[in-house]
Amino acid sequence: KNDYEKMTITKIKKAKNNKKLTMITAYDALFSNLFKDIADFILVGDSLNMSFAGKQDTLSATLEQMIYHTDAVCNGAPDAFVITDMPFGTYNNEKEALENAVKIYQKTNAAAVKIEGGENRAHIVKHLTSNSIAVVGHIGLMPQYVRSEGGYKVRGKTKEDEEQLLKDAIAIEKAGAFCIVVEGVLSNVAKKITELVSVPVIGIGAGNVTDGQVLVWSDMLGFFDAFKPKFVRKYLDGANLVKQAVNQYRNDVQDASFPNNDEEY
Ligand code: KIV
Ligand code: NA
Repeated sequence: KNDYEKMTITKIKKAKNNKKLTMITAYDALFSNLFKDIADFILVGDSLNMSFAGKQDTLSATLEQMIYHTDAVCNGAPDAFVITDMPFGTYNNEKEALENAVKIYQKTNAAAVKIEGGENRAHIVKHLTSNSIAVVGHIGLMPQYVRSEGGYKVRGKTKEDEEQLLKDAIAIEKAGAFCIVVEGVLSNVAKKITELVSVPVIGIGAGNVTDGQVLVWSDMLGFFDAFKPKFVRKYLDGANLVKQAVNQYRNDVQDASFPNNDEEY
Protein backbone atom coordinates (compact mmCIF):
# COMPACT_ATOMS: atom_id res chain seq x y z
CA LYS A 1 0.00 0.00 0.00
CA ASN A 2 1.47 3.35 -0.92
CA ASP A 3 -0.72 6.36 -0.27
CA TYR A 4 2.23 8.68 0.22
CA GLU A 5 1.61 12.37 -0.28
CA LYS A 6 4.19 15.10 0.12
CA MET A 7 3.92 16.53 3.61
CA THR A 8 3.50 20.12 4.65
CA ILE A 9 3.12 21.59 8.12
CA THR A 10 -0.60 22.03 7.50
CA LYS A 11 -1.00 18.37 6.53
CA ILE A 12 1.10 17.24 9.46
CA LYS A 13 -1.09 19.19 11.89
CA LYS A 14 -4.25 17.91 10.22
CA ALA A 15 -3.07 14.33 10.51
CA LYS A 16 -3.78 14.43 14.24
CA ASN A 17 -6.72 12.08 14.93
CA ASN A 18 -6.91 11.24 11.20
CA LYS A 19 -3.82 9.38 10.14
CA LYS A 20 -0.81 7.90 11.91
CA LEU A 21 2.42 9.58 10.86
CA THR A 22 5.58 7.65 9.99
CA MET A 23 8.95 9.26 10.62
CA ILE A 24 12.30 7.63 9.91
CA THR A 25 15.82 8.94 10.24
CA ALA A 26 18.24 9.21 7.32
CA TYR A 27 21.79 10.50 7.23
CA ASP A 28 22.62 10.41 3.53
CA ALA A 29 21.23 10.71 0.02
CA LEU A 30 21.31 6.98 -0.66
CA PHE A 31 18.87 6.11 2.10
CA SER A 32 16.76 9.27 1.97
CA ASN A 33 16.12 8.39 -1.66
CA LEU A 34 14.84 4.98 -0.60
CA PHE A 35 12.60 6.39 2.14
CA LYS A 36 11.39 9.52 0.39
CA ASP A 37 7.96 8.55 -0.88
CA ILE A 38 7.18 6.09 1.89
CA ALA A 39 7.77 7.90 5.19
CA ASP A 40 5.81 11.07 5.94
CA PHE A 41 8.91 12.81 7.17
CA ILE A 42 12.62 12.20 7.37
CA LEU A 43 14.62 13.15 10.45
CA VAL A 44 18.31 13.91 10.19
CA GLY A 45 18.80 12.85 13.80
CA ASP A 46 21.91 13.60 15.78
CA SER A 47 21.82 9.84 16.43
CA LEU A 48 24.05 9.86 13.35
CA ASN A 49 26.84 10.69 15.76
CA MET A 50 26.57 7.12 17.04
CA SER A 51 25.61 4.97 14.08
CA PHE A 52 27.39 7.03 11.42
CA ALA A 53 30.35 8.49 13.33
CA GLY A 54 30.78 5.70 15.88
CA LYS A 55 30.66 7.92 18.97
CA GLN A 56 29.23 6.92 22.35
CA ASP A 57 26.48 9.53 22.47
CA THR A 58 25.02 12.41 20.45
CA LEU A 59 26.74 15.23 22.31
CA SER A 60 29.73 15.80 20.05
CA ALA A 61 27.73 16.20 16.84
CA THR A 62 28.40 19.64 15.37
CA LEU A 63 26.22 22.08 13.46
CA GLU A 64 28.49 21.71 10.42
CA GLN A 65 28.04 17.92 10.48
CA MET A 66 24.27 18.22 10.80
CA ILE A 67 24.24 20.66 7.86
CA TYR A 68 26.41 18.33 5.76
CA HIS A 69 24.13 15.35 6.42
CA THR A 70 20.95 17.38 5.99
CA ASP A 71 22.16 18.64 2.63
CA ALA A 72 22.87 15.07 1.55
CA VAL A 73 19.46 13.86 2.76
CA CYS A 74 17.69 16.72 0.95
CA ASN A 75 19.67 16.03 -2.24
CA GLY A 76 18.52 12.41 -2.19
CA ALA A 77 14.92 13.33 -1.42
CA PRO A 78 14.24 16.82 -2.82
CA ASP A 79 10.50 16.65 -2.15
CA ALA A 80 10.62 15.09 1.30
CA PHE A 81 9.74 16.89 4.51
CA VAL A 82 13.13 16.92 6.21
CA ILE A 83 13.71 17.80 9.87
CA THR A 84 17.19 18.48 11.26
CA ASP A 85 18.20 17.95 14.86
CA MET A 86 19.90 20.99 16.30
CA PRO A 87 22.92 19.45 17.98
CA PHE A 88 23.91 19.77 21.62
CA GLY A 89 25.20 23.20 22.61
CA THR A 90 23.87 25.06 19.56
CA TYR A 91 20.72 26.47 21.17
CA ASN A 92 21.75 27.45 24.69
CA ASN A 93 20.15 30.86 24.38
CA GLU A 94 17.66 32.51 22.07
CA LYS A 95 20.18 34.40 19.97
CA GLU A 96 22.46 31.41 19.44
CA ALA A 97 19.50 29.15 18.65
CA LEU A 98 18.16 31.53 16.02
CA GLU A 99 21.56 32.11 14.40
CA ASN A 100 22.15 28.38 14.13
CA ALA A 101 18.64 27.54 12.93
CA VAL A 102 18.99 30.24 10.26
CA LYS A 103 22.26 28.62 9.14
CA ILE A 104 20.43 25.30 8.76
CA TYR A 105 17.70 26.99 6.69
CA GLN A 106 20.22 28.90 4.58
CA LYS A 107 22.52 25.99 3.85
CA THR A 108 19.98 23.18 3.40
CA ASN A 109 16.39 22.61 2.34
CA ALA A 110 15.35 21.38 5.79
CA ALA A 111 11.70 22.17 6.49
CA ALA A 112 12.10 22.29 10.26
CA VAL A 113 14.51 21.86 13.15
CA LYS A 114 14.08 19.69 16.24
CA ILE A 115 15.28 20.70 19.67
CA GLU A 116 15.34 18.75 22.92
CA GLY A 117 13.77 20.26 26.01
CA GLY A 118 10.48 20.98 27.74
CA GLU A 119 9.36 23.90 29.88
CA ASN A 120 13.03 24.90 30.39
CA ARG A 121 13.52 25.39 26.65
CA ALA A 122 10.09 26.75 25.72
CA HIS A 123 11.46 30.30 25.41
CA ILE A 124 13.95 29.04 22.82
CA VAL A 125 11.19 27.33 20.82
CA LYS A 126 9.14 30.52 21.04
CA HIS A 127 12.01 32.65 19.78
CA LEU A 128 12.55 30.33 16.81
CA THR A 129 8.88 30.00 15.86
CA SER A 130 8.30 33.74 16.13
CA ASN A 131 11.20 34.20 13.71
CA SER A 132 9.78 31.86 11.05
CA ILE A 133 11.64 28.71 11.97
CA ALA A 134 9.42 25.61 12.09
CA VAL A 135 10.17 23.65 15.24
CA VAL A 136 9.59 20.07 16.31
CA GLY A 137 9.88 19.63 20.09
CA HIS A 138 11.49 16.62 21.74
CA ILE A 139 10.56 15.74 25.32
CA GLY A 140 10.75 12.72 27.60
CA LEU A 141 14.03 10.85 27.40
CA MET A 142 16.34 13.38 25.78
CA PRO A 143 19.62 11.86 24.58
CA GLN A 144 21.42 15.23 24.72
CA TYR A 145 20.95 15.12 28.53
CA VAL A 146 22.64 11.70 28.90
CA ARG A 147 25.77 13.01 30.56
CA SER A 148 24.03 15.46 32.88
CA GLU A 149 21.39 12.85 33.80
CA GLY A 150 23.94 10.06 34.16
CA GLY A 151 22.28 7.70 31.68
CA TYR A 152 19.22 7.07 29.55
CA LYS A 153 16.19 6.85 31.83
CA VAL A 154 12.63 5.97 30.94
CA ARG A 155 10.41 8.87 31.92
CA GLY A 156 7.02 9.19 33.55
CA LYS A 157 7.49 6.65 36.31
CA THR A 158 6.49 8.95 39.17
CA LYS A 159 3.52 11.28 39.55
CA GLU A 160 5.91 14.27 39.67
CA ASP A 161 7.65 13.23 36.50
CA GLU A 162 4.35 12.63 34.74
CA GLU A 163 3.20 16.11 35.72
CA GLN A 164 6.47 17.59 34.49
CA LEU A 165 6.07 15.85 31.12
CA LEU A 166 2.54 17.18 30.72
CA LYS A 167 3.81 20.69 31.54
CA ASP A 168 6.66 20.23 29.06
CA ALA A 169 4.27 19.21 26.28
CA ILE A 170 1.95 22.14 26.91
CA ALA A 171 4.84 24.60 27.09
CA ILE A 172 6.34 23.39 23.81
CA GLU A 173 2.98 23.46 22.04
CA LYS A 174 2.28 26.96 23.36
CA ALA A 175 5.71 28.07 22.14
CA GLY A 176 4.61 27.17 18.63
CA ALA A 177 6.06 23.73 17.89
CA PHE A 178 4.00 22.05 15.15
CA CYS A 179 4.87 18.54 16.29
CA ILE A 180 6.42 16.94 19.37
CA VAL A 181 8.63 13.86 19.57
CA VAL A 182 8.10 11.97 22.81
CA GLU A 183 10.85 9.50 23.59
CA GLY A 184 11.19 6.80 26.23
CA VAL A 185 8.02 7.53 28.18
CA LEU A 186 5.59 5.07 29.81
CA SER A 187 2.80 4.38 27.33
CA ASN A 188 0.03 5.56 29.64
CA VAL A 189 1.81 8.89 30.11
CA ALA A 190 2.46 9.20 26.36
CA LYS A 191 -1.28 8.68 25.89
CA LYS A 192 -2.05 11.56 28.26
CA ILE A 193 0.43 13.82 26.46
CA THR A 194 -1.08 12.87 23.10
CA GLU A 195 -4.58 13.68 24.29
CA LEU A 196 -3.48 16.90 25.96
CA VAL A 197 -1.89 18.69 23.01
CA SER A 198 -3.43 19.53 19.67
CA VAL A 199 -0.26 19.02 17.62
CA PRO A 200 0.83 15.53 16.50
CA VAL A 201 2.90 13.57 19.00
CA ILE A 202 5.46 11.26 17.43
CA GLY A 203 6.56 8.50 19.77
CA ILE A 204 9.68 6.41 20.10
CA GLY A 205 9.60 3.96 22.95
CA ALA A 206 6.27 5.50 23.96
CA GLY A 207 3.69 2.90 22.96
CA ASN A 208 1.24 2.89 20.08
CA VAL A 209 -1.17 5.56 21.30
CA THR A 210 0.81 8.50 19.94
CA ASP A 211 -0.08 10.14 16.62
CA GLY A 212 2.86 8.50 14.87
CA GLN A 213 6.17 6.74 15.34
CA VAL A 214 9.82 7.44 14.63
CA LEU A 215 12.61 4.90 14.39
CA VAL A 216 16.29 5.22 13.64
CA TRP A 217 16.81 3.61 10.22
CA SER A 218 19.96 1.71 11.18
CA ASP A 219 18.21 0.21 14.24
CA MET A 220 15.02 -0.87 12.46
CA LEU A 221 16.93 -2.28 9.50
CA GLY A 222 19.24 -4.21 11.81
CA PHE A 223 22.50 -2.56 10.78
CA PHE A 224 23.37 -1.28 14.21
CA ASP A 225 23.62 -4.59 16.03
CA ALA A 226 25.75 -3.48 18.99
CA PHE A 227 22.58 -3.45 21.08
CA LYS A 228 18.85 -3.40 20.44
CA PRO A 229 16.64 -1.29 22.68
CA LYS A 230 13.34 -2.91 23.74
CA PHE A 231 11.27 -0.47 21.64
CA VAL A 232 13.00 -1.21 18.35
CA ARG A 233 11.37 -3.61 15.92
CA LYS A 234 13.92 -5.08 13.54
CA TYR A 235 12.36 -5.10 10.07
CA LEU A 236 15.48 -6.37 8.33
CA ASP A 237 18.45 -8.41 9.44
CA GLY A 238 20.70 -5.84 7.80
CA ALA A 239 23.97 -6.64 9.56
CA ASN A 240 23.81 -10.34 8.74
CA LEU A 241 22.64 -9.79 5.18
CA VAL A 242 25.51 -7.38 4.57
CA LYS A 243 28.08 -9.67 6.18
CA GLN A 244 26.84 -12.66 4.17
CA ALA A 245 27.01 -10.68 0.95
CA VAL A 246 30.53 -9.39 1.65
CA ASN A 247 31.64 -12.89 2.61
CA GLN A 248 30.27 -14.20 -0.66
CA TYR A 249 32.13 -11.44 -2.51
CA ARG A 250 35.40 -12.40 -0.82
CA ASN A 251 34.84 -16.10 -1.64
CA ASP A 252 34.15 -15.21 -5.26
CA VAL A 253 37.32 -13.10 -5.41
CA GLN A 254 39.38 -15.86 -3.83
CA ASP A 255 38.18 -18.60 -6.22
CA ALA A 256 38.24 -16.16 -9.17
CA SER A 257 34.54 -16.74 -9.94
CA PHE A 258 34.18 -12.96 -9.78
CA PRO A 259 34.31 -11.34 -12.27
CA ASN A 260 32.95 -13.75 -14.87
CA ASN A 261 32.75 -13.31 -18.65
CA ASP A 262 29.69 -11.06 -18.45
CA GLU A 263 31.41 -8.83 -15.95
CA GLU A 264 34.55 -8.07 -17.94
CA TYR A 265 35.43 -5.85 -20.90
O1 KIV B 1 18.50 11.56 16.73
C1 KIV B 1 17.50 10.87 16.50
O2 KIV B 1 17.52 9.93 15.69
C2 KIV B 1 16.27 11.22 17.21
C3 KIV B 1 15.15 10.24 17.19
C4 KIV B 1 15.50 9.06 18.02
C5 KIV B 1 13.87 10.85 17.60
O3 KIV B 1 16.21 12.24 17.82
NA1 NA C 1 18.16 13.26 18.18
